[in-house]
Amino acid sequence: MSINEVRWLSECGSTNAYAKEHFEEFGPVGAVYTTNQTAGRGRLGRSWVNAEGRALYYTAVIREPLAQPATLPLLASLAVRDQLAQRYGVDCRIKWPNDLLLNGKKIVGILCESVSYGCQMQGRGIVCGIGINLAQPQSYFDAANLPNGTSLELQGAKVDLAADPQWLAEALTDFGFDRPLYTFAREGFAPFRDEYKAACVNLGRHVTFDLPGGGTGSGTAIDVDADGRLIVRTDSGEERVFTGEVSVHGIYGAV
Ligand code: BTN
Repeated sequence: MSINEVRWLSECGSTNAYAKEHFEEFGPVGAVYTTNQTAGRGRLGRSWVNAEGRALYYTAVIREPLAQPATLPLLASLAVRDQLAQRYGVDCRIKWPNDLLLNGKKIVGILCESVSYGCQMQGRGIVCGIGINLAQPQSYFDAANLPNGTSLELQGAKVDLAADPQWLAEALTDFGFDRPLYTFAREGFAPFRDEYKAACVNLGRHVTFDLPGGGTGSGTAIDVDADGRLIVRTDSGEERVFTGEVSVHGIYGAV
């Protein structure tokens, strides 16, 4: 039995917001999940649309100090990829930094947020929110204007909505986060880099990316460095794209 608390909520505004509010109630690694998230948050200030009963909304609570917290989203993408392979036999690719694609469409989104806690807010932690599209029909993605989104069921996986959310939440917590954290907490992303690169769909492809000061750049993605940055060869040299507020386009449908 797991020693990490995995808390189920019948409904929640945002599991990330809940995890931040209840952060100190969890041990070094814990999690909260629901299949009905009414105010989900996405990356870059976007929202994450609810699909009541047909998707998993999960947040890992990490209270362990991390050597390289900015690379947690990349570790998380490997964690989800592994557990989806275990459960469904699917081979997802990673769109840098942390989206999972199946047959060229987005199946998982990840949003990590830092947390300050304690009486003087001096404690530092991180929550890692993961949305997994389990069994939404095509009409859901059409109505939500998400042409690049898909669900495991739409891609042919046999989804059991009664059992899979709990199975995935527990497996992610124990095998996706707790176990790799023994290495990741001390050594950061470097030990996971080769595995990540093998799954990364961007490498060798033309990408465009947002520059931190505004505008866009483009070139060929050639590597992911030990700090988790995407290295892009451009006309004027090399750019190292950070895992922060940037996005990489031009990948959907490319595989
Ligand atoms: C993205 O924009 O791709 C990231 C989406 C992250 C969504 C998940 S669902 C569980 C957790 N709770 C939230 O409010 N957001 C994350």
